[in-house]
Amino acid sequence: MTDMSTIPAFPATRAPGCPFEPPAEFSELRDNEAITQASCPAGIDAWVVSRYEDVRTVLSAPGISSRKAPSAHVTVGADLKRPVSPGNILQLDGKEHARLRRMLTPEFTVRRMEALRPYIQRIVEEHIDALLAVPKPADLYEAFALPIPSLVICEMLGVPYEDRDVIHKHSATLMAIDRDPQIGFAAYGQVQAYMSKLFEAKLAEPGDDLIGRMITRSSESGDPITAAEMVELAITLLIAGHETTANMIALSTAALLQQPEKLAELRENPELAPSAAEEMLRYLSVIQFGLLRYATEDIKVGEQTIPAGDWVVAALNAGNRDAQVYADADTIQLDRNGKTHLAFGFGIHQCLGQQLARIELQEVYARLFRRIPTMRLAVDPNKISFKDNALVYGVHQLPVTWEG
Ligand code: HEM
Repeated sequence: MTDMSTIPAFPATRAPGCPFEPPAEFSELRDNEAITQASCPAGIDAWVVSRYEDVRTVLSAPGISSRKAPSAHVTVGADLKRPVSPGNILQLDGKEHARLRRMLTPEFTVRRMEALRPYIQRIVEEHIDALLAVPKPADLYEAFALPIPSLVICEMLGVPYEDRDVIHKHSATLMAIDRDPQIGFAAYGQVQAYMSKLFEAKLAEPGDDLIGRMITRSSESGDPITAAEMVELAITLLIAGHETTANMIALSTAALLQQPEKLAELRENPELAPSAAEEMLRYLSVIQFGLLRYATEDIKVGEQTIPAGDWVVAALNAGNRDAQVYADADTIQLDRNGKTHLAFGFGIHQCLGQQLARIELQEVYARLFRRIPTMRLAVDPNKISFKDNALVYGVHQLPVTWEG
């Protein structure tokens, strides 16, 4: 049994000067093969699993529920008994989850995602132009990392061109939710109102886009998606796909700019972009506080039984640095062809947008550093402000500059 004094707390702090390393307590827990309970800001105690295999065991266990929100453990005062909104795919279990996932999966096939690649290539190039056009130093997060995923999701959902600026503005505000909750809630209301109107319009005339096809597909199956479900789902896609990818783009750029030899390797070998995307996802694990689950049955994890009725957190970042699975787990190896990482989760809720996120990261890595080969940080690395308290880890700003 682990000594009580070593029990990690959420949100755990990263060691000073090590912004890309998971908090040491979780790594120690993993290396000691210990499973223990941590007290969480939401007012619950949760078992923490940190080994790669244990994370997979928990996330794929039949007796595990997502109904209490994937990251609610770190929210002070979170209402863990609140009913799940219809359409909130992340929090649904069993048949309810399977129904929505089945409707949505055809939208995320590799083929459909690859068909978006030329559009993604174009907007990456356009945003490199935009970055080059702003006065130096430029904030790469604001000018480059944020708009790309937002535009891609608008394209998928079928948000008309003329409305994209508005949606982008609101979703950027939504992402700042950790800074001012009131403004975040207001932005949520605006996006919700907008998506309701969009759904009504598509109901009258379903187009060849995600919302239009979902309406058609679900009514043909005799189980039509409701307005409330579709609006919630569209917002989930907007937030889930936007925040994660934007933070990955900016955070991985911050990490690579501090490892010039890796950056040069990537610049000179753009064919490394696909494996580099996997490696940066593994190395950075932006869902920094892991995934919260609730045991509805006893779950055996190694020697430990997590009893039914207990909470459990799967620490993705510690699992992704498990030396039993990845040699030199704490170093970036751009050509690593390791076992599938945990950055997209595991089990029935594993990220539906993962192929899209991969393509976005690949196109950024293959283009950004070639077009701006002299890019460097415009501030002392110690002055970068990291999102230590946000559910998705990243940087608040990334000031960069370049020659010419
Ligand atoms: C780097 C980018 C991304 C990361 C790190 C990421 C991470 C994750 C993780 C860890 C989960 C599992 C949550 C859980 O099990 O509770 C998840 C689920 C999900 N993600 Fe992503 N995601 C990314 C990009 C995207 C994109 C681009 C989209 C869509 C446009 C997307 C849509 C979703 C959806 C719909 C789910 C819920 C699936 C379900 O509950 O069945 N994600 N994501």
